[in-house]
Amino acid sequence: MRDVAARVLLDAAREGAGRAHAPYSRFAVGAAVLLTDGQIVVGANFENASYGLSLCAETVALATASSQGRLRDVVAIAVTGGALEGDGSLRGAVAVTPCGRCRQIINEASQLGGSDIDIYCASPDGGAFAHYRISDLLPHAFGPADLDID
Ligand code: THU
Repeated sequence: MRDVAARVLLDAAREGAGRAHAPYSRFAVGAAVLLTDGQIVVGANFENASYGLSLCAETVALATASSQGRLRDVVAIAVTGGALEGDGSLRGAVAVTPCGRCRQIINEASQLGGSDIDIYCASPDGGAFAHYRISDLLPHAFGPADLDID
């Protein structure tokens, strides 16, 4: 089910993907984080000539929320992405899901905030859509709770 929050967040993620710095993979990803007060924080993948330094869109969005002092306030994140065409549009039929590292980072926000974060994933044209919780994508997670951090 695609509710209003999912649609609004995915639109913001799609807009974010338009600002990806992805000249190496030519695969643009946008992520949009929803906070408890309705604020939306957007990120895009941020690649580097030293390939291994590249950051995913979800990580950029969550680090931005954290730098605003809002890591504990994350309730949902939307992700979309696809191959960059010459005209700047995105091609892809798959609903991009967060990579393993991003799942761990989403889990950090989840455990600190005490919220099983909603994750909305869609293909660039919205044709493919999936809704998960972080506990679905990273079960039995290691996180701040294991280190007695709250
Ligand atoms: N990427 C993301 O930003 N998020 C994901 O969930 C999957 C992959 C980025 C990393 C890299 O810049 C490009 O997509 C291709 O892997």
